[in-house]
Amino acid sequence: MSGLCSERVAIVTGAGRGLGRAHALALAGEGAKVVVNDLGAGLDGTGTEAGPARLVVDEIVARGGQAVAHGGDVATAEGAASLIRTAVETYGRLDTLVNNAGFLRDRMLVNLDEDDWDAVMRVHLKGHFLPLKHAAAHWRAETKAGRAPAARVVNTSSGAGLSGSLGQGNYSAAKAGIIGLTLVAAAEMGRYGVLVNAIAPAARTRMTEATFAETMAAPDAGFDAMAPANVSPLVVWLGSAASAGVTGRVFEASGGRITVMEGWRPGPTADKGARWSPSEAGEAARRLLAEAATPEPVYGAR
Ligand SMILES: NC(=O)c1ccc[n+]([C@@H]2O[C@H](COP(=O)([O-])OP(=O)(O)OC[C@H]3O[C@@H](n4cnc5c(N)ncnc54)[C@H](O)[C@@H]3O)[C@@H](O)[C@H]2O)c1
Repeated sequence: MSGLCSERVAIVTGAGRGLGRAHALALAGEGAKVVVNDLGAGLDGTGTEAGPARLVVDEIVARGGQAVAHGGDVATAEGAASLIRTAVETYGRLDTLVNNAGFLRDRMLVNLDEDDWDAVMRVHLKGHFLPLKHAAAHWRAETKAGRAPAARVVNTSSGAGLSGSLGQGNYSAAKAGIIGLTLVAAAEMGRYGVLVNAIAPAARTRMTEATFAETMAAPDAGFDAMAPANVSPLVVWLGSAASAGVTGRVFEASGGRITVMEGWRPGPTADKGARWSPSEAGEAARRLLAEAATPEPVYGAR
């Protein structure tokens, strides 16, 4: 199959449903051979089911593409290692890793159980780190063997990670962590030909059915702005050799809109050249805040 990703092998985690499914179909549509990972977890991360990953593989094959299912948990060392192995053993190579798997356990912080904190940290942060680590080890070995991979990683953050989201303290912290991980991975892995970027998507999936209830129904005709497939073209491009030179960046993507998110950078500064007293520090902080840009509001807060 010809296309932007022909000759490439891509892994998409959590690709049995929602955004991951759309990314897997789009990558396959551009010629990639795809490892469709999905644990088949429930909305809160509990349970497992082989069906979703297999169905997506069947869809890709029915459209003339190539794909293989992987049902492992990406947040375990064995799951992540076997995921990378599946790509290399089935198709002989790995070019693109799309980290996407995840789930929610929303609660206000005062009601948030330790288990809900741990589970969300685990699936998003460890579930990004471990596949990234195993893929990076593979690409480093490729580089040492004299091959020059045009390797790509696309991580999945969220507006919650960028601006915060009420009732999602665990998820917002994990998704902000994914931005930090993306920046470090991009800086460390460039020498092995690996480019690492992140997206903050928005789309109608089972995860956001309640949030996007008003826009749930596709318009009678024309453009369905909340379709997950709208996010996938950017993921395909970032996951292809065509994105050469782009690394350590964060993009919001939803509907027909793509936005480069500009990160923390120094704003107004005062330097006394000596230690401040607490009240002096407070006066300086207030003066600087008056000059500073107003932060983006936290989602759900007034
Ligand atoms: N839908 C949105 O608007 C939106 C917004 C911001 C960020 N995101 C992020 O996009 C990603 C995809 O979300 P979605 O909306 O498509 O949700 P979804 O629930 O439709 O799909 C997530 C998939 O991940 C799988 N999964 C969960 N834990 C796993 C594990 N340990 N190993 C392997 N697979 C696992 C689930 O089985 C599920 O099929 C998530 O990281 C989510 O946080 C989504």
